Amino acid sequence: MTTKEKDLKYIMHTYGRYDVALKSAKGVTAYDENGKKYIDVSSGIGVNSLGYCNDGWVEAVSKQAGTIQHMSNYFYCSQASDLAEKLCTLTGLSKVCFGNSGAEANECAIKIARKYSFDKYGEGRNEIVTLNNSFHGRTVTTLAATGQDIFHNYFFPFTEGFKYADADDMDALKAVVSDKTCAVMLELIQGEGGVNILDPEYVKELVKYCNDNDILVIVDEVQTGVGRTGKLFAHQNYGILPDLMTVAKGLGGGLPIGVCMCGEKLKIYDHNHKTDFTNGLFRKQGYVVGRVEIGSNVWIGSDVLILPNVRIGNNTVIAAGAIITKNIPDNVTYIQKRNSVEVQNG
Ligand SMILES: Cc1ncc(COP(=O)(O)O)c(C=O)c1O
Repeated sequence: MTTKEKDLKYIMHTYGRYDVALKSAKGVTAYDENGKKYIDVSSGIGVNSLGYCNDGWVEAVSKQAGTIQHMSNYFYCSQASDLAEKLCTLTGLSKVCFGNSGAEANECAIKIARKYSFDKYGEGRNEIVTLNNSFHGRTVTTLAATGQDIFHNYFFPFTEGFKYADADDMDALKAVVSDKTCAVMLELIQGEGGVNILDPEYVKELVKYCNDNDILVIVDEVQTGVGRTGKLFAHQNYGILPDLMTVAKGLGGGLPIGVCMCGEKLKIYDHNHKTDFTNGLFRKQGYVVGRVEIGSNVWIGSDVLILPNVRIGNNTVIAAGAIITKNIPDNVTYIQKRNSVEVQNG
């Protein structure tokens, strides 16, 4: 049975796949089962923040695997607290809750927002406004949070309490905000919804409006975080500090992690969300963050991750969720399908 046949027989078909079976990879170069060479500019949908099998990443993960591969939440562990400190120091946010995925980080943020509002205002102030064309994950709650009708099928009943507004339109936002609203949740660059970059003026106005009305601002940086937009996190391009921020994907560089971070006024909201698999191979996660260099350039390790049309310094980089290498080989000949570049004569 070929890999494709076995995959089709045994794996649930949650994704359509390209007709390529990759076997190994290094940096941005991937090899199929026949040894054919590809440059993969898809960045593992934002996961492979250092490219494939980055030497430092492999070393950090291997070392951690042989030291402690998992630590239950019942014990302290320096690797986790070091990473939490690093994330807080780099963002100005105050506390971290570790989990396993972007959807879970968003669940955590939703729970904290609702708990904050419940404690302060009592029952009923629990609605969250999200933006049309947003994407926040695939759990029943984060599908409901996602502002695209196409995701609101089959799995009824979805979690209640989400309202949707068009992006870049304060009047539309205000029209759905009510005395039941506890938070607004948004991606600053909508990824899945079409790579829509939100207007900085709108974002600033939205944050001010929310702050004035004690409505929490949740920024979903699952796709935009970890150096993909010219700064470590996209909100830093907008000059705002969210009340809650979620990060996943690129933070682990290929191993699962999800992080919900909160600011000062929410830091007492511990104990709202937990998962037993929280503290897995945490060292590598710290490693990825540790390697981010912020300056006029945003090279991360040997590669850089960039969303389409994102301006970095004087350069505008256009690529679909791409890893751009410093040295694109001369023999790159054509863009294959959406975002893989095949190397001729490779
Ligand atoms: C903006 C955003 N939020 C959340 C998620 C869900 O993340 P995960 O697939 O890790 O659950 C994604 C996934 O693509 C995403 O792009």
